[in-house]
Amino acid sequence: MNAMNRLALAISLAFPLVGHAGEVEVLHWWTSGGEKRAADTLQKLVEQKGHTWKDFAVAGGGGEAAMTVLKTRAVSGNPPSAAQIKGPDIQEWGELGLLADLDEVAEQGRWDELLPRQVTEVMQYDGSYVAVPVNVHRVNWLWVNPEVFEKAGAQPPTTLDELWAAADRLQAAGYIAIAHGGQPWQDGTVFEDLALSILGPEDYHKAFVDLDEEVLTGDRMVQAFAALKKLRSYVDADAAGRDWNRATGLVIDGKAGMQIMGDWAKSEWTAANKKAGEDYQCLPFPGTQGSFAYNIDSLAMFKLSDEDDRKAQEDLARTVIEPEFQQVFNQNKGSIPVRLDQDMSAFDSCAQKSMQDFKQAAQGEGLQPSLAHGMAASSYVQGAVFDVVTNFFNDPNADPQQAARQLAAAIQAVQ
Ligand code: BGC
Repeated sequence: MNAMNRLALAISLAFPLVGHAGEVEVLHWWTSGGEKRAADTLQKLVEQKGHTWKDFAVAGGGGEAAMTVLKTRAVSGNPPSAAQIKGPDIQEWGELGLLADLDEVAEQGRWDELLPRQVTEVMQYDGSYVAVPVNVHRVNWLWVNPEVFEKAGAQPPTTLDELWAAADRLQAAGYIAIAHGGQPWQDGTVFEDLALSILGPEDYHKAFVDLDEEVLTGDRMVQAFAALKKLRSYVDADAAGRDWNRATGLVIDGKAGMQIMGDWAKSEWTAANKKAGEDYQCLPFPGTQGSFAYNIDSLAMFKLSDEDDRKAQEDLARTVIEPEFQQVFNQNKGSIPVRLDQDMSAFDSCAQKSMQDFKQAAQGEGLQPSLAHGMAASSYVQGAVFDVVTNFFNDPNADPQQAARQLAAAIQAVQ
């Protein structure tokens, strides 16, 4: 070995990461207080591997704004290394030929063995991994402030009738019964929960995955719209445009009794130092006890030309599956780990219940993809549903029967 080689070897041993140091630019919409704490854990672990993290956060719950910005960047030939892209949308980006192949990382990390089948299928395009799953969120939750419930003499609801009864009590006692943010994706989230409750998981699947016209216009869908109308009467006058985390804040501060939201809402409770099962309760959305509407966050990787950046991108993908990341990130994010072998003992009671319910629902029909969070159908179908639902929600004279017909027509038009 000559002197130069010896020097190179010495440097590589002293600074093992320097040769691999690259930059990862990550587009996401984790911008609320709790979400940001979770995102920071990923940044820290990537930086510990010697890479530079370039944060590309685009505010806006549900990610619509982030997806618009991503399209602009991709069209100009300059996509980030990784982007929070979910569900069937991953296929669309794959078809454009823009996504990187992660098969080697997946093989080394034994993703096929560690991750549920429902998850691995979504992460692949044309038989190759192009995205890494971050977590599993459950959408069909109801978040309850027990102190407010007690003061109002309300009982935690398990059925829709009980939900209305609790809401009546809360309202009569002067509280906002249901904390809501009037934004299309939040209206869509609440509607999805009502639909799952009223239709049941099998017909939910027929409606929002198979896009079956008969179910979309059927009696139960009409009932779901009627329930949404009823729910509207329990929402306060300032709900329009309110961000989801501000709605969570109303429940945390004891101004409202409950919120219908996925378990990213828990990230706000956690950030406020509140304890699951004591300061707040997580209940499956009334009438959806055996079901689990899943929303899997994932980072899709874009093809890169710079070798160091590519290595950094692969390290990012590796990091995401590691137990350390899965624990700390998900404890802060409110979701559950995507690994089936993760030790859940350090998680709170809501996460433990969620994991148990996920595994149980996966054995039957109960495990269903969330429409409002881009897991069930394309973003075009999702957008069409949001339009109909939001218009219905904001029109006091809207007719549930007509809304169900409009729903089917709007979906038909974008297919
Ligand atoms: C994402 C979550 C996020 C939530 C609110 C969902 O669609 O999957 O990660 O916390 O939107 O922005």
